[in-house]
Amino acid sequence: MCGIIGAVTKSAIEPVLEGLGRLEYRGYDSSGISILSNNEIQTIKAEGKLSKLKQRLSVQPIDGDCCIGHTRWATHGRANVTNAHPHQCGQVSVVHNGIIENYLNLKQQLIQWGHHFNSSTDSEVIPHLINHYLAQKMRQEEAIEKAISQLKGSYALGILINGASNNLYAIKQDSPLVISQGNSGAYMASDAMALGADSGKVYYPKDNELIKLNANEIKSCSRSINKKIHFINNKQCTKIVSKGDHSSFMEKEIFEQVDLLKRLSVNNHTSEYSIINFKDLNKITIIACGTSYYAASVAKSWFEKYANISVEIDIASEYRYRSPIVMDNELAIFVSQSGETADTLAALRYAKSKKAQTLALVNVVNSSIARESNFTFEIYAGPEIGVASTKAFTCQLAIFYKMALEAAKQRSFLKETELADLSNNFVQLPYIMEKILQRCSAMKKMAKKLSNYKNILFLGRGMLTPIAQEGALKLKEISYIHAEAYAAGELKHGPIALLDEQMPVLVIAPKNTLTDKLLSNIKEVQARNAPLFIIGDKSIKEHINLQDDEFFELPLIPESILPVISVIPMQLLALYSAQTLGKNVDQPRNLAKSVTVE
Ligand code: AGP
Repeated sequence: MCGIIGAVTKSAIEPVLEGLGRLEYRGYDSSGISILSNNEIQTIKAEGKLSKLKQRLSVQPIDGDCCIGHTRWATHGRANVTNAHPHQCGQVSVVHNGIIENYLNLKQQLIQWGHHFNSSTDSEVIPHLINHYLAQKMRQEEAIEKAISQLKGSYALGILINGASNNLYAIKQDSPLVISQGNSGAYMASDAMALGADSGKVYYPKDNELIKLNANEIKSCSRSINKKIHFINNKQCTKIVSKGDHSSFMEKEIFEQVDLLKRLSVNNHTSEYSIINFKDLNKITIIACGTSYYAASVAKSWFEKYANISVEIDIASEYRYRSPIVMDNELAIFVSQSGETADTLAALRYAKSKKAQTLALVNVVNSSIARESNFTFEIYAGPEIGVASTKAFTCQLAIFYKMALEAAKQRSFLKETELADLSNNFVQLPYIMEKILQRCSAMKKMAKKLSNYKNILFLGRGMLTPIAQEGALKLKEISYIHAEAYAAGELKHGPIALLDEQMPVLVIAPKNTLTDKLLSNIKEVQARNAPLFIIGDKSIKEHINLQDDEFFELPLIPESILPVISVIPMQLLALYSAQTLGKNVDQPRNLAKSVTVE
């Protein structure tokens, strides 16, 4: 997703460039800045990585006290310098994150008014509209609000105006925006991760609340009514996260999971979950996207099996268009690592309109989804930089596991001894995970062999079907190998037609109550000469003759925590396959860390 940042401070270009560096993890294809220097706006842009922009700035150093910056993830218009932000018209320069749905009509109107456009972006209409109203002698705030009133769609804007007074403005609708008051300056950004050390206090503006930032003050000035801003402490860590000795953030985050799960399994947050009255719940609906949706799928099994609560899960972009029935005493849980995913935020707003009780399960506590939910549970994963989600997924599962046990306790559905066994499994979890990570070199061999294929089928059963789906997503999103996942029992209902020597099948087969069923699915695969890869325990290996680089052995794992453990080899497989193929593991092509457009 696009990232925006702005600063009003001495040598404002420095915190802006630092902020753009912090936003790189979101994924982007071009970048640029506008700065007020010697009483004029200078705009410098570059295609590709931030280093290209810094190169251009090094040959033409500029400085000033009012600056905006942007990393672009192309939605309208190719990734090139012309389409890069900021977009400028006269004395107005704008950076935008979001989509203006009615930009073509606005562009035609502006062309009729004599405006000329350079780019093929939707965003470029915004500075032209503001400039048009300034030319009609409107005050800066009025011109901005008049322009904004004509936009349909989503936006978070940084607006630089060179006029009688040099001001930076910020305003949003549906896209995330944070304002910060520092000791030596005022700042705005797409997310608090972009803010530097001088950002102790933050404020999250409401939709269409116009914020004016200058050297002396930060004002909320919608419709020229100045409103006092109540800043809160910035909980987002502002230190720059480093890869350490790892080759990528993703690798670092995979190996961080052991300590994170150790902390979650001992740090007894259970009291945190008792604020939810599970006892009287009729239904839980869990809504999410991507990897977070697969966490929801696993959680469904745990809530139903251990707490006897009916659970419905849905993909956020589908949920609100299918007229879902929201019942009395229903809890709608919205799972989102970033807390800014537009599809999930829109689904949350729909559920609230139907009076559902809403709970956000997020990694960023001050995020939009958290702020708009009745309850928020944090997953304590720490900043996740790799676009492919790993540690956030296992932390989501960990919190869901604890919630399911809390629900089981409140509903007295399990015996004390059963609850104790499930809690004990959870305490063992990080130590079993550690053993698997210690055998990561075995997975490198499997990845090397698997990365020769163009297509792969992933099979799982029961609670491991979502893990097969997550494994397929991990592999395809960073290695670009086409991978799709099926419940193993579904193979014979169609996908088996795909099997031949060129269609390998990877089966997740740790010992569990469905192993015998899975074994017959594996035999179906072998009977069609499809290359077979298995992630399972040695009981399976005795039945099937596989090479070392086709079998990754798992220890015996308590059934309740199988999904959390089985995803680790999947993550390693994706990481090493992508490395074998020389892909950019942390910033895969076309992807963004936080998808803030629908
Ligand atoms: C996960 O590896 C992907 N990057 C993606 O599917 C992600 O899980 C999805 O976009 C949801 O993001 P969220 O958890 O921040 O809402």
